[in-house]
Amino acid sequence: MTQHPDLLVEQKRAALYVTLNRPDKRNAQTPSLWMALHEVARTLDPSVRVVVLQGAGDDFSAGLDLHIMSPEGLPGEPKLPAIARARGEQETANLIGTFQEAFSAWREVDAIVIAAVQGHAIGAGFQLALAADLRIVTDDSKLALKETSLGLVPDLGGIQPLVDAVGYSRALEIALTGRWVTAQEAVNSGIACLGVPRSELKLATGQVVDAICENSDLAVRELKKLMVGASRRTTAEQLQAEREAQGRLLVDLVTPAGFDRSKTHSHDHHHEH
Ligand code: CAA
Repeated sequence: MTQHPDLLVEQKRAALYVTLNRPDKRNAQTPSLWMALHEVARTLDPSVRVVVLQGAGDDFSAGLDLHIMSPEGLPGEPKLPAIARARGEQETANLIGTFQEAFSAWREVDAIVIAAVQGHAIGAGFQLALAADLRIVTDDSKLALKETSLGLVPDLGGIQPLVDAVGYSRALEIALTGRWVTAQEAVNSGIACLGVPRSELKLATGQVVDAICENSDLAVRELKKLMVGASRRTTAEQLQAEREAQGRLLVDLVTPAGFDRSKTHSHDHHHEH
């Protein structure tokens, strides 16, 4: 299992809890953390049905560790401005490509990924939340894309899910202004699927985890693939993907023991395998 001082990874039954664990620095993120995060996603055990991305302490994440951008940099981490100056834009873009994998990987895994967000989720923090399939926010959550005010752009895959959630114009406005998106706006606009009091985040997240795990493992895995690609497939491609997925599921339902009605309703389906 991946080792990183700022990352806790703990499996409880079918749920993997991945915790950014640098609360004294508001869970600021580093490239080495991103390597470790990508490794967790890449090596996910098939028994993991749900991943919960969360932050230790009062905040989800204050985004990129800004010391990376200083001339001194951070020990053990790439010095981004120096690399950009010395190696040029193509090599810098290639390096960022490796960072992006820590974010894009969560759409590619079969497991459902939930971001459980409290407090601040800024820049790379907001983008990590956007990399999840579902977001639960607490009433004290404040999300913002601050990249533009640093002379940069959001580049960790957050733009597409934000545009999908709130539309082009609102997404552009959020990134242009760097303003706070409150929990209420996040829920109303579809960025988050649930808003809860701070004290209930753990409970609410657990309930969503349980609700997902009550359904057929195979159906949930197929469903995520169908949904992830839905807005970018043609109607014909989407229909094909849906009927092929259903074909696989129906074959599983009717074989080898014949049609078992209990399987379609059973809350214990996943225990039967
Ligand atoms: N990088 C490094 N250290 C950070 C940090 C960050 N992004 N955010 C907070 N910290 C550190 C602070 O330096 C401070 O450290 P010390 O105790 O050693 O001084 C500690 O965490 C606590 O921070 P604050 O005292 O500021 O805590 P607060 O509760 O008053 O404020 C905050 C919290 C609003 C998150 C504030 O810390 C803040 O604005 N942080 C910076 C947020 C930011 O601009 N992030 C970059 C976004 S852009 C991005 O992520 C880049 C990208 O994608 C390209």
